[in-house]
Amino acid sequence: MPQPTPEQLRAALATLTDPASGRDLVSAGRIESLQLKDGLVQMALRVRREEAGAMEPVRRAAEALLAGLDGVRNATVILTAHRDAPAPAQPPGHAPGHAHGHAHGDPRQQPKLLANIGAVIAIASGKGGVGKSTVATNLAVALAGRGLSVGLLDADIYGPSLPQMLGITRRPEVRDEKMLPIPVWGLQAMSIGFIIDPDTAMIWRGPMVMGALQQLMEQVAWDKLDVMVIDLPPGTGDAQLTLAQRVDLAGAVIVSTPQDVALADARRGVRMFEKVGVKILGLVENMSYFCCPACGHRAEIFGHGGARAEAARLGVRFLGEIPLLATLRESGDAGTPIVVSAPESPAAKAFQALADEVQTALARR
Ligand SMILES: Nc1ncnc2c1ncn2[C@@H]1O[C@H](COP(=O)(O)OP(=O)(O)O)[C@@H](O)[C@H]1O
Ligand SMILES: [Mg+2]
Repeated sequence: MPQPTPEQLRAALATLTDPASGRDLVSAGRIESLQLKDGLVQMALRVRREEAGAMEPVRRAAEALLAGLDGVRNATVILTAHRDAPAPAQPPGHAPGHAHGHAHGDPRQQPKLLANIGAVIAIASGKGGVGKSTVATNLAVALAGRGLSVGLLDADIYGPSLPQMLGITRRPEVRDEKMLPIPVWGLQAMSIGFIIDPDTAMIWRGPMVMGALQQLMEQVAWDKLDVMVIDLPPGTGDAQLTLAQRVDLAGAVIVSTPQDVALADARRGVRMFEKVGVKILGLVENMSYFCCPACGHRAEIFGHGGARAEAARLGVRFLGEIPLLATLRESGDAGTPIVVSAPESPAAKAFQALADEVQTALARR
């Protein structure tokens, strides 16, 4: 069956009404991006941040409408708001369990997502840039290297980094109305960045984050996974809460750097997960020490060992130390995890040791 043309898609969308202006969705300027490939429509609806709740039914209607067109196998519609709008204010002490105005009532009462996966592990950190995605990626590849069937889900809706770290530029294919995770480095990977351009700066409101995350979990044909590693955005916001409430997590791995500031954030992360009943598998110290590439000398430029002491203080396991290495950043930038590109490097060995620890922690559950 021939695919609809972009004009035909727009004509179909013009039958939906924009609740704010009363005009049709297309002439109201709501269509931010619209793509059709291999029978999958991917569309972003432009909304103001405060409209997210009101636009959720429109999002769903657009999805159903597009998915029902001849020549379309499935449709994914997301809501986006751009950064030129002021950042959404996060009230201090933003309480876990806080309602997000989602239409389905208490998210904790809904059936759990990813229920048929052996163990779902969240990789979290109190702040960004501590190496969460690096750890998630290399840990997932190391676990896959042990014969486990491993999925890697980029839940960093705000700043997806898996497309770059895994070297993926293609879009997921669709089969039987679901997106297929992209097979790479022995993993099954999925990221919002495979669907929308990762360089498009966007701001997401609570309900959008929940919607987008839910789609990445439910509308993806994950194939019999023993383990799923979820790379979370930094902090303790909506994505963390959605996951804690909607997924039966085996536990969270908290990544920190050795500095006191990062450790304070890590502590907040630990408390947040504990408060919502998620087990902490342990704390990892990244950029722990500097390994001189020329002579192998170990220099502890950030005063290494802080995370180990913090883990002891918090009563959680210490899962290991990852060295600071230029090649680690380079391999991430180049799209090949260091566990694959330099398996004998100190960093790859540290990730293998981390995989041992995580496997042990999972077995102990
Ligand atoms: N141990 C490390 N040594 C060198 N560079 C690292 C290390 N860990 C992370 N990086 C680099 O630091 C940057 C931030 O890491 P990333 O994994 O994206 O952090 P996060 O996901 O926590 O924001 C990336 O460029 C990454 O390659
Ligand atoms: Mg990241």
